[in-house]
Amino acid sequence: MALRQIRTDGDEILRKKAKKVEQITPSIITLLEDMVETMYNADGVGLAAPQVGVLRRVVVIDIGEGVIELINPELIETEGEQIGPEGCLSVPGVTGEVERPLKVKVKALNRKGEEFIIEGEGLLARALCHEIDHLDGIIFTDKVIRYLDEEEE
Ligand code: NI
Repeated sequence: MALRQIRTDGDEILRKKAKKVEQITPSIITLLEDMVETMYNADGVGLAAPQVGVLRRVVVIDIGEGVIELINPELIETEGEQIGPEGCLSVPGVTGEVERPLKVKVKALNRKGEEFIIEGEGLLARALCHEIDHLDGIIFTDKVIRYLDEEEE
């Protein structure tokens, strides 16, 4: 495994739409493993492939309950709403309140190419939405209702 460089806001790759993974090749597996290592190294709760300069629909998340790897994730159901603080490894030092669904259902493939459905509530729902947005070139600051000072977090 290796650390990859995290692209930051202003890098145009963050604004591009990532392509679907058609085949889970060894390079996709390496990408997943590098993304997990890079996310932990940066103390993040999620990372999307465009953030390491790869325009593929690949996401890793760990909100403290173990790593979740998602290939071609799709939001298939949402319920309710929540407003809460959000940050991003690509926008260091910035926190802002974003409205997200309270609950989501996401369909994705695992690294073996098997389809699974994950249901997330609260922070997990927020992380899933935030990372899937990255795959479509959307950064959380596009959706911030109010920026927060560090003391307010
Ligand atoms: Ni982010």
